[in-house]
Amino acid sequence: MAKWTMVFQLNLLLLIFLVIRLSEASGHNMFNMFRSIKDKQEGNITIWAILVAGSKGYDNYRHQADVCHAYQILTRGGLKDENIIVFMYDDIANDPSNPRRGVIINNPKGSDVYRGVPKDYTGKSVTAANLYDVLLGNKTAVKGGSGKVVASNRNDKIFIYYSDHGGPGILGMPNMPFVYANDLIKVLKTMHARSTYDEMVIYVEACESGSIFEGMLPEDLNIYVTTASSSIENSWATYCPDTKPPSPPEFDTCLGDLYSISWMEDSESEDLRHETLEQQYLKVKKRTYNNNSYQGSHVMEYGALRINKETVSVYQGSTPRNLSVNPGSYFSSMGVVDQRNADLYSMWQKYKKSTEESQKKELLKKINEIKSYRVHLDRSVDMISNYLLGSRHRSVRKEGLALVDDWECLKSMVQTFETHCGSLTQYGMKHTRTFANICNSGVSKKAVDEAVKETCSSHIMGKWDPKIVGYSA
Ligand SMILES: *[C@@H]1O[C@H](CO)[C@@H](O)[C@H](O)[C@H]1NC(C)=O
Ligand SMILES: *[C@@H]1O[C@H](CO)[C@@H](O)[C@H](O)[C@H]1NC(C)=O
Ligand SMILES: *[C@@H]1O[C@H](CO)[C@@H](O)[C@H](O)[C@H]1NC(C)=O
Ligand SMILES: *[C@@H]1O[C@H](CO)[C@@H](O)[C@H](O)[C@H]1NC(C)=O
Repeated sequence: MAKWTMVFQLNLLLLIFLVIRLSEASGHNMFNMFRSIKDKQEGNITIWAILVAGSKGYDNYRHQADVCHAYQILTRGGLKDENIIVFMYDDIANDPSNPRRGVIINNPKGSDVYRGVPKDYTGKSVTAANLYDVLLGNKTAVKGGSGKVVASNRNDKIFIYYSDHGGPGILGMPNMPFVYANDLIKVLKTMHARSTYDEMVIYVEACESGSIFEGMLPEDLNIYVTTASSSIENSWATYCPDTKPPSPPEFDTCLGDLYSISWMEDSESEDLRHETLEQQYLKVKKRTYNNNSYQGSHVMEYGALRINKETVSVYQGSTPRNLSVNPGSYFSSMGVVDQRNADLYSMWQKYKKSTEESQKKELLKKINEIKSYRVHLDRSVDMISNYLLGSRHRSVRKEGLALVDDWECLKSMVQTFETHCGSLTQYGMKHTRTFANICNSGVSKKAVDEAVKETCSSHIMGKWDPKIVGYSA
C-alpha cells in the first residue's frame, strides 16, 4: 500500500513540474507556435534560395552557367527575386573569350540563362564571410553586394545550391579564403537554433563534396543534402569541346557539370508538384554515375532523409506547363572531363584551334607553367607527409567519420604550407586530406613547420605567392 502511494506522489510531482515548465514556455513561445500553425494553414510559406558559383575565370565557365540556369528554373517555378540571392563572380558573359558575348548557356542547345539573373554578390563580394552572413540574415555584417540577406521565418523553406571546385572538407570561393565544412555547418546550426527556417535542402556540386557533410551534419537540423560526389572522389564537367555531346564548336570550354545539369534537366522535364526529392535524387544518382565507375561519381544524400519524401516543388517551386520529356537521351552516358583538369583541357582546345604562332607559344607556356606548378604541389605534399607520416598519408577515415577532428589544425596546416610552398590553388585543394591526416595523427606544430620549411626552402612562388593571391584558410 505504502509503495502505491509513493508512486502516486511521484507522478503528481512530475505533473506539477511539467505544468511549471509549460507555463514558463508560454507567452512568446506559445504565441509563436500558434502563429506558426496559423501561417501554415494559410499557406504563408516562402521559399528562399541561395545560389553560389564558387569560381572565376573563363575556364570555369560551367560553374556560373550552372548557377544562372538554376536561377531560371527557380524563377520559372514562381520564386521572387527578393527571395533569391545569387553569388557569382560575373566575369563570364562579357569575357573576350566568350563566343556569344553577353550570353551564358548551360547546354549545347540551350538558350541564354544569364538574362535577368540578380547580381547580388559579384566580383570581390563573393566571399565565404558574406555567404555566412547572408545565410544568418545579418545585413549589417555583409560587405559589398546588394545587401540582400535571407530574412526567412520559422515556416519557410530554404534551398541552397552551390557549384565549384572542392576538396576534402573545403569548397572553393573566387576570393580567399575557401569555405571550410566546420564553418558552414556552424552557420547551419545557428540558423536552426534561431528557428529561421522550417526545412532546408542543399545541393552541392564539387569534388569530394560528400566530405563537407559526412560526420558533420546532424540529422536533427531539418536539412536534407545531396552532393555530386562522395567524400573521396572528384566530380565531373560535361558538355565540353570534343566530348559526347560536345559544346558548340566555337566554345573551347565546358558548359556544365554532370550532377548539376542532371538535377536541372530533370527539374525541367518533370512535374515538380508530383516528383519527390527522393525520385530526383535517384535519377540524378543514376545519370551522374554515368554507367561507369571511373568517369562518373556517386551522388550522396545526408541529413534528415525523411525530407526526401516531399515534392521538389516545395523547394524549387513549379509552374503548370507542358513538359518536354526526353526519356531517350536521359541515361545515355555523357562525355566528361575531370573537374580538376577542365582548365588545362580548355587551354589545350584553344591551343589546337589557334592558328597564330605567337598565341600558340603563349598558351603552351601557360600550360607548362601550370603543369609544373602542379607537380611542385604534389611532390611537396608527398615529401612532407612521407616525412611526417610514412605511408599513412593516403589513408581515409572510416565511413561516417568527419575528415578531421581539429579544424583549426587543418587551417593552420594549410596556412603553413602556403606560406612556404605557395598557394594550394583549385587543383591543390585535393591535398587537404593529407593535411587532415597529419592533424589527426597528432604530429606537433613544430614538426610540421620544420617539414614544410625544409621541403619548400628553395622554391620560388612567383605569382602563386599567398601574399598576392590570398590564403585559402
Ligand atoms: C505572412 O508572413 C509575413 C512575413 O513573415 C508576415 O508579414 C505576414 O503578416 C504573414 N501573413 C499572415 C496572413 O499571417
Ligand atoms: C552581425 O554581425 C556583426 C558583425 O560581425 C556582429 O557584431 C553581430 O553580432 C551579428 N548579429 C547577429 C544577430 O548575429
Ligand atoms: C499545352 O498544350 C496544349 C495542347 O497542345 C495547349 O492547348 C496549351 O496551350 C499548352 N499550354 C501551355 C501552358 O503551353
Ligand atoms: C553502359 O556500359 C556498357 C558496358 O560498357 C555498354 O554496353 C552500354 O551500352 C552502356 N550503356 C549506355 C546507356 O551507355
